[in-house]
Amino acid sequence: MTTSRPAALVTGAGGGIGRAVAVELAATHNLILTDIFEASLRETQALTTPVGAAVHAQVADIARPGELDRVVTAGEKTLGTVSAAVACAGIEGAGTVETSDIENWQRSLNVNLTGTFLTARAVIASLKATAGSFTAIASDAGTNGFEDCAGYIAAKHGVIGVVRAMAVDHGRDGVRSNVVCPGYVETPMARRILADSPEGTEDFYRSVIPLGRFATPQDVAAVVRHFVAGSTYANGVVYALDGGSTVGSYRGA
Ligand SMILES: NC(=O)c1ccc[n+]([C@@H]2O[C@H](COP(=O)([O-])OP(=O)(O)OC[C@H]3O[C@@H](n4cnc5c(N)ncnc54)[C@H](O)[C@@H]3O)[C@@H](O)[C@H]2O)c1
Repeated sequence: MTTSRPAALVTGAGGGIGRAVAVELAATHNLILTDIFEASLRETQALTTPVGAAVHAQVADIARPGELDRVVTAGEKTLGTVSAAVACAGIEGAGTVETSDIENWQRSLNVNLTGTFLTARAVIASLKATAGSFTAIASDAGTNGFEDCAGYIAAKHGVIGVVRAMAVDHGRDGVRSNVVCPGYVETPMARRILADSPEGTEDFYRSVIPLGRFATPQDVAAVVRHFVAGSTYANGVVYALDGGSTVGSYRGA
């Protein structure tokens, strides 16, 4: 156990990006890891402990008020006050405003947007006490429109709003709040979305990325590392991490 290290919270730690972030931060931090699915959470815990981190892993639904507060309180008892929080939990969702039913729409807002707010609320006192950092994973769908995922787009635009509000409200407290907006990342979520999309969708989205490939979860974790530990003056940054696909358009190769 290395309890003298700072403590970091990672939500969605059983998923593709959350796992990579957890493994990245395990080199320097003790970890409070949480996810709604226990099996994948335990897999991530098993990957992070050999790196040297002390880990508190606990199942929680980020969309349910109070659940993350319980995780943070329990984790801080053994690992100390959280000085970095990374909100990675999220869900995909299909549908236009015409085809989305109200349940899907609300589920997307509850998990992706309200879940980010509840994550922030669970750690803000700790981040103020430690002059820490909050990093959310939004999406290129937080800054741009894409077809057939209206609820997801609305929620991810809202995540950027939450982070900008925090940057203004809590900058004076020494808390840095930033948001990463990836394009497609090679994770279970991306695989599910592309498997449910019309033929040719994956080739199309690859063809409009100037760097010519999707991101890896480690690409995202490296940017999170920068916000957690490298950038002492970044606050309110909306970081496009999409291989250049949202800065312009070209016809593709
Ligand atoms: N993969 C991509 O292409 C991509 C692109 C842009 C943004 N993102 C965003 O990055 C984040 C991570 O996505 P990922 O690709 O790692 O997806 P993923 O599906 O691999 O992981 C998401 C994790 O969140 C957890 N989760 C879902 N609902 C939850 C809830 N209510 N409470 C707690 N945990 C919950 C899941 O169990 C899962 O482990 C998401 O917010 C996603 O919207 C992903």
